Amino acid sequence: MELKDRVALVTGASSGIGLATAKLLHKSGMRVVMVARTAAKLEAAAAELGEGAVAIPCDVGDLSRLPWLIDQVVARFGGLDVLVNNAGVHYRGDMLRHPPEALAEIFTVNLTAPVVLTRIAADHMRAGGCVVNVASLAGKLGVPGSAVYSGSKAGLRFWALAVAEDLERRDLRIANVNPGPVDSSFFDADIQGVSNLTFSQPMSTPEQCAEAVLACIQDTRSPMEIDLPFASGKLATLGYLSPRLRAWLRPALERRGAKNKAAFMRRRGLS
Ligand SMILES: NC(=O)c1ccc[n+]([C@@H]2O[C@H](COP(=O)([O-])OP(=O)(O)OC[C@H]3O[C@@H](n4cnc5c(N)ncnc54)[C@H](OP(=O)(O)O)[C@@H]3O)[C@@H](O)[C@H]2O)c1
Repeated sequence: MELKDRVALVTGASSGIGLATAKLLHKSGMRVVMVARTAAKLEAAAAELGEGAVAIPCDVGDLSRLPWLIDQVVARFGGLDVLVNNAGVHYRGDMLRHPPEALAEIFTVNLTAPVVLTRIAADHMRAGGCVVNVASLAGKLGVPGSAVYSGSKAGLRFWALAVAEDLERRDLRIANVNPGPVDSSFFDADIQGVSNLTFSQPMSTPEQCAEAVLACIQDTRSPMEIDLPFASGKLATLGYLSPRLRAWLRPALERRGAKNKAAFMRRRGLS
């Protein structure tokens, strides 16, 4: 896809992967609509990018606002070429620690909102356009301590893999980027609750995730998936296919994860 002057909508664009993606797409010549809840932070991020970047504060978990959001994009830019479903939430640890409403919020923000936003956006997306979901390796293999999050990301991945044929009828493509741990502020709210298993895989940067999103946009396949890192994706698939191998590897992965987590906490001043 020729990117110059195409229009991209990126959710969760005020920090981490979403911000790195908005920056990269903007640098590639696209006009970028940036969405997140906290208006001041989002507007500062869009202002830093400059002309061609627009902030629209919106909670994607409020599904009733999503038609309004797409209307805003169409009113400003006349259409849409790329939708990046990146906003996500996680309440960590034992599911029974959390109120039922928090668990429902994980599914609403991580899964229902991308599906609903894609449905609404598809009526306004130009032929050749692309939807990219930021899912997770936790959506390839059930991660204890991240049960609801894993379920939401698995749902997102599987929906995308199955819906590709529907979108193809409108000449639209869909892709998943599945990162392992990423060096963003995603862990900061509850670092103690992050499982050692989560940290057992090498960490990616938000910029590497953004490069993967761009690679999906520029590819011609649909559906497609990029795992980050590649080897961790293969390990997740093997673990999914073989519960016995998964159980055998788990103690070593837990030990490695504990070390990586301690190093991450020291580096981020969280210990
Ligand atoms: N970091 C990781 O290790 C990792 C690994 C795999 C997958 N992921 C996925 O990557 C995505 C981005 O995570 P990140 O690491 O970049 O986290 P982050 O740095 O915490 O950024 C999250 C972004 O999403 C926005 N957001 C959260 N809830 C929202 C909502 N309801 N409506 C609109 N915006 C919302 C946040 O802004 P506001 O709070 O102001 O709304 C922020 O801009 C998530 O889907 C996450 O599940 C992350």
